[in-house]
Amino acid sequence: MDKPKKAFHGGAFFGAIGESLRSLDRADEVISADVLDAWYDPSPRVISALADHLPWLIKTSPPTHGEGLREVIAEQRGINAENVLLGAGTSSLMFLVFPRLIEAGDPVLVFDPSYGEYAHLVENVVGGELVRFELPLDSFDPDIERLIESAKKAKMVVIVNPNSPTGRVVTRGEMERVVKACPETIFWVDETYIDFVDHQSLEGVVGESDNLIISKSMSKFYGLSGLRVGYLVASTNRVSEWERLSPPWSVGLLAQLGAIEALLDGEYYRAQVTETMVLREELVLGLGQIGIEPLPSVTNYVFGRLPGGGVAQLVAGLAARDIFIRDANNLSPRFADDWLRIAVKDRNSQARLLGAMQELRA
Ligand SMILES: Cc1ncc(COP(=O)(O)O)c(C=O)c1O
Repeated sequence: MDKPKKAFHGGAFFGAIGESLRSLDRADEVISADVLDAWYDPSPRVISALADHLPWLIKTSPPTHGEGLREVIAEQRGINAENVLLGAGTSSLMFLVFPRLIEAGDPVLVFDPSYGEYAHLVENVVGGELVRFELPLDSFDPDIERLIESAKKAKMVVIVNPNSPTGRVVTRGEMERVVKACPETIFWVDETYIDFVDHQSLEGVVGESDNLIISKSMSKFYGLSGLRVGYLVASTNRVSEWERLSPPWSVGLLAQLGAIEALLDGEYYRAQVTETMVLREELVLGLGQIGIEPLPSVTNYVFGRLPGGGVAQLVAGLAARDIFIRDANNLSPRFADDWLRIAVKDRNSQARLLGAMQELRA
């Protein structure tokens, strides 16, 4: 059988808006809680910097390798610019780098469940041996000793931290312990959702450690998914090797400027984290009242179990009302139509979502 050509990501909401992009009139009616884009707008600094110069930004070639953005990342994150590799979203960087890190047949350990692109990339793109590290179905927190034992046998380990779909975080101390215990193993740590938690990023500890690569998407936390910008933090050796492979102008000018302005407005984003936590607890409470058992989350999404199953039917019923949530069952062979993932949304959208779920479950 042919290998699947792409991973499934949810994102069915765009079908309801119209992927032809000929009209965005329905964008405000459709609730896209199936993807994990920010419920809040990008910083006002981003919007005004882009709006003030829009025609010029669209028609002008950007700095070739995003030199200015790299400097701002280095300064804001307390790292060296030589350890930073930019890309049009971290997805483009994964596809650039994975074929250089692993060869066909290499064992690659990936959490089960986790972000689906990694299993696809390992199995269908690079042809590695996908080794699933099964997280316990009650807590979804890894046993660290068991993780170290399994990691030692792998060529590479992929850890999404905090994990998607679970919303659970492995602490920085535990992560450092695992990486140090396995010097022969390459660790790819995907920190797309780490900024929703304080002080847990490994970004600052990469330094010269050659076996640690941190993937930093700017899509979700900074509300820049549509712009496509992200970066890797890795040793200078690795970054300089990969720089040769990365095309010029890979990050557009709107994206470079938007990312700079976002990074410089930490205060705005800290306020969004506080509000996200409030909305998340409202969502958790509402889901509990419908009979869904949510797992405690540190992120902008909630992972929950519907005892007895029926998720596919619920997802379809909501979609018919222009409300999209993620059926999480294809994220682990161990799930049985009983797990779902819902992104935190603004208060009105959450009220609409919970109201519709209540009706469908009645
Ligand atoms: C865990 C995780 N990693 C990486 C990505 C890709 O992000 P991007 O390519 O927008 O940086 C996503 C997007 O959903 C994600 O959820």
